[in-house]
Amino acid sequence: MQRHLISAADLTRDDAVLILDTAEEMARVADRPIKKLPTLRGRTVVNLFFEDSTRTRISFEAAEKRLSADVINFTAKGSSVSKGESLKDTAQTLEAMGVDAVVIRHGASGAPYRLANSGWIDSAVINAGDGTHQHPTQALLDAFTLRRRLLGREAALGRDLAGRRVTVVGDILHSRVARSNVDLLHTLGAEVVLVAPPTLVPVGVESWPCEVSYDLDSTLAKSDAVMMLRVQRERMNAAFFPTEREYSRRYGLDGERMARMPEHAVVMHPGPMVRGMEITAEVADSPRCTAIEQVTAGVSVRMAVLYLLLGGNEPALSRQPSAERTASTAHAAEEK
Ligand code: NCD
Repeated sequence: MQRHLISAADLTRDDAVLILDTAEEMARVADRPIKKLPTLRGRTVVNLFFEDSTRTRISFEAAEKRLSADVINFTAKGSSVSKGESLKDTAQTLEAMGVDAVVIRHGASGAPYRLANSGWIDSAVINAGDGTHQHPTQALLDAFTLRRRLLGREAALGRDLAGRRVTVVGDILHSRVARSNVDLLHTLGAEVVLVAPPTLVPVGVESWPCEVSYDLDSTLAKSDAVMMLRVQRERMNAAFFPTEREYSRRYGLDGERMARMPEHAVVMHPGPMVRGMEITAEVADSPRCTAIEQVTAGVSVRMAVLYLLLGGNEPALSRQPSAERTASTAHAAEEK
């Protein structure tokens, strides 16, 4: 694995499967009454959020705390960024305080890459979403959820998603989730179909490893999963479709459309959902919708990523006392 996680496209099939398998180990910790591991004790992780976030920010923080890291939360609102401080100065300020990893979400595509490759800081950089570019941990948690649902929890270990068909529907143009999923699902052997109105399909999509369709109904019966995306109004400076009603009618998922999916197929959504727009409440609340499972998976997957980027070479759940723990126990015994 590389030292940073900037793009889902940087992961090999074996990297991705290792992360997903490690996340399964981490998920076992979440099932315990005490959900904490000492793995990152003494390491500092800063969450640098220049853009709004609910799930991703809380999930990273939970993952860091479950690995016993010291956590610093930084949000652009209320910081000196609103006084005009640059990314470079902000990063160097954090580096001067001695951080081991930076989790960054930024409105500008490429900001995490810049941070990782600029020489400004030495710490590991994890992209938590940059502009319309990438959101690699989202793609990993989606793959984790899919693998579990389609293959089963035990059977999933060591395996990829070869031959599965995933349909991604909605505002592809502005979606870093779509881009990351196309890259990762392709690496894992799945076939991806993007469905959107022509105005929300990015220029150059022909070079992506996926198919494109403008007709949701024709894709449903062949899908193992249908991933619904939010229309990202905050990134739109023009009208991309006539009315919301028209959009929902053609590209929204309702109960009637869901019934045309194969029985085993699931509905996914990265959140935040806009009920009544891309997804009806009936679908969002149905047992076929994995939105909540995806959130739970997010914590395990982010623990796995942090562990693999920062942690040692020991198995994540080693029950052997580490040298450090043995030494401190011996020291405590001497003091008695
Ligand atoms: C997405 C994001 O921020 O890219 N949400 C998320 O991270 N779970 C998608 C969105 O905002 O619609």
